[in-house]
Amino acid sequence: MSHWASILSTAAKVNLLVLVVSAVFSWSSLSDRVPEFALTKIEESDIKDDSGKEPITEDDADPEDLEVFYPTHQWQTIRPGQAVPAGSHVRLNLQTGDREAKLPDGENGKSDTREERRKRLGKVDVDSNAFTSQELKKVLAKMKESEKAERKAHEEEVRKKFRPIEQLKEEFEKLNVKMETDYEIMVKLIGKFNSSASTLDEKVAALYDLEYYVHQVDNAKDFLSMGGLQLMINGLNSTKAVLKEHAAFVLGAALSSNPKVQIEAIEGGALQKLLVILATEQPLAVKKKALFALSSMLRHFPYAQQQFLKLGGLQVLRSLFRQKGMETLHVRVVTLLYDLIVEKMLLEDSQHGDQMEEKIQQYRQVKLVPAVVEQDWCVVVSNLLAMPEHDTREKVLKTVGVLMAFCKERYRGDQALSTTLSLLRSEYEELAAEEQREGDKDGYFKELLGSVNTIIQELR
Ligand SMILES: *[C@@H]1O[C@H](CO)[C@@H](O)[C@H](O)[C@H]1NC(C)=O
Ligand SMILES: *[C@@H]1O[C@H](CO)[C@@H](O)[C@H](O)[C@H]1NC(C)=O
Repeated sequence: MSHWASILSTAAKVNLLVLVVSAVFSWSSLSDRVPEFALTKIEESDIKDDSGKEPITEDDADPEDLEVFYPTHQWQTIRPGQAVPAGSHVRLNLQTGDREAKLPDGENGKSDTREERRKRLGKVDVDSNAFTSQELKKVLAKMKESEKAERKAHEEEVRKKFRPIEQLKEEFEKLNVKMETDYEIMVKLIGKFNSSASTLDEKVAALYDLEYYVHQVDNAKDFLSMGGLQLMINGLNSTKAVLKEHAAFVLGAALSSNPKVQIEAIEGGALQKLLVILATEQPLAVKKKALFALSSMLRHFPYAQQQFLKLGGLQVLRSLFRQKGMETLHVRVVTLLYDLIVEKMLLEDSQHGDQMEEKIQQYRQVKLVPAVVEQDWCVVVSNLLAMPEHDTREKVLKTVGVLMAFCKERYRGDQALSTTLSLLRSEYEELAAEEQREGDKDGYFKELLGSVNTIIQELR
């Protein structure tokens, strides 16, 4: 120890330089997908126009698994797993290895934008400009690796006694510079997961890391060709809940916006297995990830949507509303329904050329709305307006809005709904007035109040 300390103190500058170099180097391979990892950078807020046409996307999603970092005007350490809102300044503290974030300077007046307010209200917009927990996870993993490398370097140093600084520096660089390609890493991780010699923890760790890699479209295609996708599908009926959960997580990540993987996965039997998980008794964590994978499978893939309806998938989702302890899944299910309904509507409304014609034909086969009405989702959805979270209500209000065309008669006769809507109206009138007094003219609550009023009007 004291030996290392003396090297550090005599060569503090050199070491710091090496650390900076190696830190930057370790991240350079990430930089194509994680451009935020510059040492200091301002993220541009991506303020979306919430015209109501925009489908609610749950992203890769598991917003509930994300803890949000609330930036102030002071630098604060970002804890593992926390998501940093877009617009924050982020830096790396090289002394501690911690990542820190704060609000950008001179933006006091702007901090009350609708986006900011939403964030304070606990709405997590996991957009591409915010750090996701996966990204943070990865950086932390990298840091642990380099810590390990440093420790190794330390041990060697102790053994070999004194070494010139230059040589030490070279060794440092060698340790950190050896970067593997994503492909090589995935091969190793798949091997680890597939090996009978691996412990359960090692398998879970391999899946956890794989989830990060398969987000990238090209990696997901490689994952497919390596046979990884089928391994995940087989993992869905593992006897170990934790493996089912993580296999579903990797699958969901690989499926997101990746038609090639979607096709292979449905051919590999993933849809049935996901529905079995959702229909049978399983821990909440397993169902949550299965629902995530199912959503990724169905979005923008009309063929899978058809199969889903044929296999009774909608009834399976409906059964989640009758099982105890599954409440956190309800809003996700409603969000998925909303996305699927709106996705089809948008396509039907859009100007399209010939190549879209086939897709439109496929969507015509997806008889989602009749099934929704038949299974009385109208009331299942509107009942969720009684939830206390604004964020949940926002999603439910949007869904009630699109269901209105089909559920109007049902809603008109629903006394409980009319009471709930009146209560929501008073609540949001008050909150919107307060918002306006604070100088926010087009605030979040005003928008919610608008949605409530629209629904009330349509039911007159
Ligand atoms: C998993 O292991 C089995 C048995 O050792 C092997 O046959 C199979 O090819 C492996 N799968 C992948 C994708 O590596
Ligand atoms: C999982 O399902 C596959 C195919 O349906 C089957 O071959 C395998 O034995 C099942 N595994 C378990 C653990 O039930």
